[in-house]
Amino acid sequence: MEIKKVGVLGCGLMGSGIAQVAAGAGFETVVREVSDELIQKGFVGIEKSLSKFAEKGSITAEQQKAIRDRLSGTTSFEDLADCDIVIEAIIENLDEKRKTYAELDRICKPEAIFASNTSSISITAMMTATSAERQQRFIGLHFFNPVPLMKLVEVVRTILTDDAVYEQGIEFGKRLGKVPVRAGDRSGFIVNRLLVPYMLDAIRALEEGVGSIVDIDTSMKLGLGYPMGPFTLGDFVGLDTTYYIAEIMFDEFREKRFAPPPLLKRMVLAGLYGRKSGRGFYDYKDPKNPTPMNLV
Ligand code: 3HC
Repeated sequence: MEIKKVGVLGCGLMGSGIAQVAAGAGFETVVREVSDELIQKGFVGIEKSLSKFAEKGSITAEQQKAIRDRLSGTTSFEDLADCDIVIEAIIENLDEKRKTYAELDRICKPEAIFASNTSSISITAMMTATSAERQQRFIGLHFFNPVPLMKLVEVVRTILTDDAVYEQGIEFGKRLGKVPVRAGDRSGFIVNRLLVPYMLDAIRALEEGVGSIVDIDTSMKLGLGYPMGPFTLGDFVGLDTTYYIAEIMFDEFREKRFAPPPLLKRMVLAGLYGRKSGRGFYDYKDPKNPTPMNLV
């Protein structure tokens, strides 16, 4: 089966980015959200991103229009019935995901591939909400924020994934212009397995007084050439998301290095989620000049 039409579930930060990349790679792409407002919000973000590429000359005005024309939004699952692959990027909640997959399984054609963009929830736990046939056509496709810029996609297989379906997942990743890596269905896959303990350790170092927010960030940027230090990255990803991923990984591995430090928990309880809420490790009153918060 050749992949021609792509379905995306969720038009938030990740879903809209995935839809943009799929349409940009030439696929007819339909995005499903729960409301027209959320579709519009996601499409505004796509337009902004495409305009940045157009301003830089990476795409022409005609290509920008063609990408837009290949994209459509819907609030109905039925509009995904003829998709060849459906990539889910909804809320990181296993029950919600299982409900969604069970419904989609009844609607989508039997040969359609189901993929999840989850960062830490077990692919196996999601796939069992679908029929035995679909379970062999179930993979993880984990993208990175901002999806239009980040080149990596982790392609995840379970113990039941069909070999041919998995290879199609790898090829599809390449057709999206990404570099696919192969990963097994272990919470966090490759990137978050290494990233999450690093980010949590940075918070512990801060709590222990090893260095300030700015100095720890500067050290990792200038000492190792990372594009962002751990606190800037945490605020960028979202501290609620980071906390949630750490909890799932701690639950899976029962290892201290995945346990969210008390400061992270307090920040999330206090609504300090990072950039999206205006405050995290930094205060974004002036988004171009974030100032470090006084947290310890
Ligand atoms: N679409 C198009 N262009 C964009 C864009 C978008 N969404 N976002 C930024 N850009 C462009 C900017 O316009 C800018 O263009 P210019 O060079 O012509 O001015 C260029 O990209 C660079 O952006 P900035 O100047 O704003 O900032 P940076 O140089 O710091 O680059 C970055 C931004 C690419 C985000 C870089 O900081 C970076 O790579 N950061 C690390 C991101 C990262 O680690 N992501 C993974 C997070 S983990 C994850 O997603 C997994 C999950 O499971 C947690």
